[in-house]
Order: sequence, then structure tokens, then C-alpha cells
Amino acid sequence: MNLKIAVLPGDGIGPEIISQAVKVLEAIAQKYKHNFIFTNALVGAGAIDKTGNPLPEDTLQVCKNADAILFGTVGDPKYNDLKIENRPEQGLLKLRKRLGLFADIRPIATYKPLIHKSPIKEKVIKNTDFIIYRELSSGIYYGEKKVSEDGNSASDTCSYTAKEIDRIAHLAFKAAKSRRKKLTLVDKSNVLETSRLWRKRVKKIAEDYPDVKVFFLHIDLATMQLIINPRKFDVILTENLFGDILSDEASVISGSIGLSASASIGENSVLFEPVHGSYPKYKGKNVANPLATILSAAMLLEHFNLHEEGDAIRNAVEKSIELNITTPDLNTTRKFAHTSDVGKFISDYIIDKKSVLYYIENISLGQSTII
Ligand code: IPM
Ligand code: MG
Repeated sequence: MNLKIAVLPGDGIGPEIISQAVKVLEAIAQKYKHNFIFTNALVGAGAIDKTGNPLPEDTLQVCKNADAILFGTVGDPKYNDLKIENRPEQGLLKLRKRLGLFADIRPIATYKPLIHKSPIKEKVIKNTDFIIYRELSSGIYYGEKKVSEDGNSASDTCSYTAKEIDRIAHLAFKAAKSRRKKLTLVDKSNVLETSRLWRKRVKKIAEDYPDVKVFFLHIDLATMQLIINPRKFDVILTENLFGDILSDEASVISGSIGLSASASIGENSVLFEPVHGSYPKYKGKNVANPLATILSAAMLLEHFNLHEEGDAIRNAVEKSIELNITTPDLNTTRKFAHTSDVGKFISDYIIDKKSVLYYIENISLGQSTII
């Protein structure tokens, strides 16, 4: 398959983790005879430095011309004092808006060897498997913002239309239908008008999916249920801000936010990015976990029905975890792996499983001839 992929590394640890995902996609292209063409573009603080704009027009064009976008992270503390509309994060928020990326799919799974890494008890999280459908291009993120002249009052508006709710709700119901047939709408319908509209629309749409059981949960209770009873969830459908919060919270179940991948879907564009932020403190140290970005690359392939290829990445990721070839967030021993080691292991494993395992075994038995 020919795929044009726009690569937007962004800020902080973004460039380090993105290059691992690109390395892994190159291994897939080599092994499965695909032709992936990567085009890099500026976004976030790096784009402000060079062009004064967190989302330059050129970048938008590169994204529009691509079949898919692979995104790193944005955000830099040196721009903390900028107005909201000029901050590096606008590179991502404007991209979502301009490309109409309305549905953000954020799956949460557990990995056996990591189950003890979570601060939550094993018996609670074992076999957890749910997916968050977060509305991504509306709500309080995009409503009118105001600050009074004296700076002593401010407001953000949250608004939704039935159309904006319906399009993501249909995607979430379809996902539930192909999974365990449970959909939970998370809202705050005892306080917010927008939440009441979400409930009304979801009840209506539910009529089209009679085999899907629908639950309604307020966000405050949902944050608690997610920790004490995560197995009860299958598909969670929610608005933009609640989805942002829930997806970070949910990553605790997997053992690290460095494992949470995402796919943002629009009418004509698709973007894949890790759920975590730019972690400026670790920038350039080669210790950030690249797995969330590598798993986002797997979601990219699966979006184009390259399921065998997606599985090859997932198997390699699981192997790296099993062999403890992991970064310090997952590996507190002195033998932790660096970002680039993890990327190298995964891409080598994809290309030639046997030789990689042979090499690793010999090293661990002290038989390596490499000094
Ligand atoms: C995310 C991030 C973004 C968001 C930030 C970087 C603007 O936290 O993708 O979850 O809030 O959506
Ligand atoms: Mg977030």
C-alpha cells in the first residue's frame, strides 16, 4: 500500500518518540512491502520560534495532502505567559478544528507483565479493556473565551449542537456493537444544559442500536468507578473536556501514561498521537517512553485495514514489555532501556524476530562477543 504520512514531531519529547514510531513504520514497510512516504512539518513551540505561528499554513497543507498524520506532542514552558490563542497547544487544537477531527478514540488495555506496576490492585484491573470516545472539535475547548480588562474575571463557553453529538455517538455505538455491546455516556446532566442535550441525543440514537445496552454516568462518579471497577466499562462516550481528563486517569490502569495511544478521526483526515504531553523536563534525555506513539502508529495501520501489520507492532510491543526492554516509567531497575533502544528492539523484532531473540538471549547469558 502507498501511504503519505505527515509527521509533526512538535515539542519536548515529541521528536524523540516520533522518530521511534517512524523507525517502526519503516520496518513495517520493509517487511510487508509497503511504500510509506513521510513528510515532516512544524507545529507548536518550534513552529512559533521559526514562523511566529503554532500552526503554519504550510503545515496545514502538508496535513491536508497526507493520508494520515502522525503527531508527537506540543507545549513548552517558555511560552507559559502567552495568551491562550497564541500558545503552542493551539498548533494541535487548531489542527483538530481545521481538519474536522471530531472523534478521539483512546483505548485502555492491561499488559500482564505490567499489572503490578499500576498503583491499583491487580484483582481490580485484571482484564480491563475499554475504549474512550472523546468528542474532539467542540465543547468548552472551542467556545467563546473572555477575560475582563482588569483581568479579574474570565469565562469559557461550552456549547454543543445535536449534529456534533450525533456524529461521534454513531461511531461509539458502532464500536460498542462490535465489542461487548455496552456504552456508557459520561456527563454532568444534573448541572449542565449541554449534558442534557447529550443524554437526549444518545437516547434517541440508541434506538438504532437495540443490541447495545446504554448506561448514563455523571463525570464525578465516573472518575471513581474508573478506578474501583474499571472492568465494567466497554465503550465510554463523552464530551471534549471530560474525555481529556478521563483518558489521563484511565492510563493509570495500564501502568503508565506512556502506553496510551489515540486516533483522531474526521471526515477527510485522520491523526494519530500519544495521549501524554511534551514532558519538557525529559526533553533530549532519551528516556521518554515511545510506546504510546508506536501504538498510535499501529492504530494508523489498522485504520487502513493493515491488521496483520498492526498486530506485528502490538506483538513486538508486548515482547519488549515481557523482556523488560522498557524506559524508566516502567522499569525502575538500573538496566532500563533508552527511548531509542525500545524503538530499535521493536523495529528489529518486526523485521527478524528470531535473530533478535537469539542475540538478546546470548547477551543475557553473558555469551555475547560484542564488548
Ligand atoms: C490531549 C492533550 C491536549 C488536549 C492538549 C495538549 C491541548 O492534553 O490530547 O489530551 O487537552 O486535548
Ligand atoms: Mg490530555
